[in-house]
Amino acid sequence: MQNAQRDFLATVAEKSDGAALRGDYTDITADYVVQQNWAAYTPEEHALWRKLYQRQAELLPGRACDEFIESLNALNASEGIPDFEATSKALFAATGWTIVAVPGLIPELAFFTHLANRRFPVTVWLRKPEEFDYIVEPDVFHDYFGHVPLLFNPIFAHHIQEYGKGGLKAMGLGGLDQLARLYWYTIEFGLVQSPQGLRAYGAGILSSGGELTYCLEPSSSRHIALDVERCMRTLYKIDSYQETYFVIRDFQQLFDDTAPDFTPLYARIKQQEPLPANTLLPNEVELVQG
Ligand SMILES: [Fe+2]
Repeated sequence: MQNAQRDFLATVAEKSDGAALRGDYTDITADYVVQQNWAAYTPEEHALWRKLYQRQAELLPGRACDEFIESLNALNASEGIPDFEATSKALFAATGWTIVAVPGLIPELAFFTHLANRRFPVTVWLRKPEEFDYIVEPDVFHDYFGHVPLLFNPIFAHHIQEYGKGGLKAMGLGGLDQLARLYWYTIEFGLVQSPQGLRAYGAGILSSGGELTYCLEPSSSRHIALDVERCMRTLYKIDSYQETYFVIRDFQQLFDDTAPDFTPLYARIKQQEPLPANTLLPNEVELVQG
């Protein structure tokens, strides 16, 4: 392990009151990659994966976007924790992406560098049975089930790569907080307006039993059309369901609206107070589920 990596782990422990990250960081490479060691998963872990998968798959129709459901079904990942190598082969053939195994959360530089090079980091460990409904750090179920299917969609996959490049750029511009809010409200908790009504495409929603239902209830939270600058000003909650969901028309809109240079946006937003998570601005209209 390198000195910079030791510093990263020490900083995380400091920020979280001494609690270390959950994964095993002993054998990381310089870019925080580990071996998945698929053969080491226990029958109990595969069984827990099947339970998580089944519960979630039953909730998808009418709630997840079609692109997600189609790609997930093609992955054939219902029977146990998937072998990343096999998925990577199929994914590379589809969109030029691969999956890399990581021990858990990794520093921004390593994360953005992977994305910018079409490598998606997926955590290797699975939650414990008592964490069936809620987990603090992302595990293999969140990372794989939530994120991997849409990497088979060419527009979305391209968007994630551009996001990685944008992250590397934001590091030099002091724009990481703003960019993280965009990631949170789109890639993790985004909704899309389909002809049949609102559907989820964000991985945080799609991998959560409770939020997948909650996020589409008209009375429980706000649904407003995505405006990138507005989204980047908005604070978010990490320990409860979202109070606001931003809605896109389609993946092309997400790609197009995030294509411009964010440099002036970061400068402008930093001069304003961030907006609370439940804000509704005077010119905004709440979208209704239709
Ligand atoms: Fe995620």
